[in-house]
Amino acid sequence: STRPPVVTPSLPAAVFLAGILAALPDRNVSPVAGAIFVHELKREHFQGAFPSIQIPSDTPITFHAQLLGYPDLPRWLRYTQRGPYRTGYLYGSPTMKDVGRQLIEVTAYNRHTYETVRQRVIFTIVPAPDTQMPYQAEFFVKNRDVEEVLPTDAQKQFQQALDIMLEQKDWSIINITSALDRGGRVPLPIEGRKEGVYIKVGSRRPFSDCLLETKSFDNQFRCSLDQQPVITCYDSFSPQFRVDWCNITLVRGFDNCPDGASQHNPQQHGGAEAHGQQPGRAPPSLHPAHVQRAHGREDLPTAGPSGQSPRPAHPGPAVSVPRLPGSGPTEWV
Ligand SMILES: *[C@@H]1O[C@H](CO)[C@@H](O)[C@H](O)[C@H]1NC(C)=O
Ligand SMILES: *[C@@H]1O[C@H](CO)[C@@H](O)[C@H](O)[C@H]1NC(C)=O
Repeated sequence: STRPPVVTPSLPAAVFLAGILAALPDRNVSPVAGAIFVHELKREHFQGAFPSIQIPSDTPITFHAQLLGYPDLPRWLRYTQRGPYRTGYLYGSPTMKDVGRQLIEVTAYNRHTYETVRQRVIFTIVPAPDTQMPYQAEFFVKNRDVEEVLPTDAQKQFQQALDIMLEQKDWSIINITSALDRGGRVPLPIEGRKEGVYIKVGSRRPFSDCLLETKSFDNQFRCSLDQQPVITCYDSFSPQFRVDWCNITLVRGFDNCPDGASQHNPQQHGGAEAHGQQPGRAPPSLHPAHVQRAHGREDLPTAGPSGQSPRPAHPGPAVSVPRLPGSGPTEWV
């Protein structure tokens, strides 16, 4: 027949319409450019707003999020939910280019009744405070999925481990990326297997010896043989976070240099800072294959001696990439 499909046969039309119109009050959030931002979409929060009076607590709820007036989210923002019984997350790391207001519309769906609840989340992305973080390190955590490190408590745990291990409290989390977004595979459903997650941290202070050791010639060689590198500090991440010490990316950027330092010979400039901090330290410990200099415009291939493939997100030299003044080290993503 040509009748339109009946969407909710078990519900009166009025309830269904009311469901479409149900909305929660606007939320305001203020992500900071250059820092990880996480907004939790909690089931309980939306559950009470569905028009049906009694919603059992085991109702499956999923979410959809979009930039108001667009079909999708802004480029910097990602959405994930492990399943209809879990918290959903909007997360990402805005850049200076994203500073300003973005209206995100979140829709929660009751998968049993097809009722919906809408909420507008008003994003006011603010510039990073004046602190620069030219030293950036990215860790690959093998035993976690992205949803497990997004909650604030998990981030704190990771940060504490970092503080202890590197003996400085200066690091902050810049970005979190699921290994699936970098071409990782969904693991077989064997107990304890995870997709893995990349956590990028930044600091104003130079890398500790401990981090640099992972890039020593000997350790690179060990990694090429699938052995774990030898580092002299205690791995305080373990056992909560199993960091792959062969899979560390170290980046030095020198954006925001005073008095037009970008005009200087970048190598001299970068060199001066790096060596000033650690006199007499042998430069080879910074393996060139793993140190990209944003300011230096001489991004080196990320492929290392152990046959790691270059990251596709990093297409060659960034020489001609325009830079916003004071934009922070954001150009060599
Ligand atoms: C954060 O990670 C995502 C996913 O890898 C990437 O697309 C984005 O450019 C990163 N942002 C920053 C500021 O590093
Ligand atoms: C890090 O580990 C992931 C997952 O095993 C792999 O795909 C990636 O190539 C590794 N990257 C480096 C730099 O070793």
